[in-house]
Amino acid sequence: LPPVVTIDGPSGSGKGTIAKLLADRLGFILLDSGALYRAAALAALDKSVDLSDEEALTQVAKSLDVHFAVNGGQLRVVLEGREVTDDIRMERVSMAASSVAAIPGVRAALLQRQRDFRMAPGLVADGRDMGTTVFPDAPVKVFLTASAEERARRREAQLREKGVSVSLRDLLEDIRARDAQDMNRKASPLAPAEDAVELDSTGVDIEEVLRRVLALVQA
Ligand code: CDP
Repeated sequence: LPPVVTIDGPSGSGKGTIAKLLADRLGFILLDSGALYRAAALAALDKSVDLSDEEALTQVAKSLDVHFAVNGGQLRVVLEGREVTDDIRMERVSMAASSVAAIPGVRAALLQRQRDFRMAPGLVADGRDMGTTVFPDAPVKVFLTASAEERARRREAQLREKGVSVSLRDLLEDIRARDAQDMNRKASPLAPAEDAVELDSTGVDIEEVLRRVLALVQA
């Protein structure tokens, strides 16, 4: 089987950025598993499925018609033939994704689909449970963290670039709420795999984090 590097961690830890840079550097395929949960959430919202109806949501995940396409070096997400790359990043989709992802049937429905990304020459898998559930045999597992304050600051800077201004206090509250939801759910709660290397990126720049992850891959 081709090698897998798993990068798990909480929202805003920088795992998405690191996973993409790492995949580019290694020439590996990239799996953004969060995008799958977001696409499932968007499909459910579009179909006006009740977000508390576990059976209906599981059905949405099972029949999810989503694929990823690379366009100009950018990963595009296509849902039922429609480009939804930006739509799945909307706040209401983030919130819905978080509830949808808590449903065991949804997670089970998306499991094989994630494993199918494991192709030559290798895979970088970004998510919450890549190292624990989806690729437990991955030879390199990273658990990327950062303090909630730092993650809120990063999110604020990102939003400011887009011309959106939000209070740091509100962002910090959102992050804490999502952390609690991700860590306390019964299905695949956010936690490092036993054999994962934990990297705290608080006060560490992207290049340095990438350097440390590359060192693990090359070790
Ligand atoms: O970018 P951010 O970390 O905020 O979100 P994401 O990685 O795109 O994931 C969106 C949602 O899907 C999160 O609320 C996670 O709880 C969930 N998720 C998950 O349960 N398992 C994964 N492997 C990836 C994401």
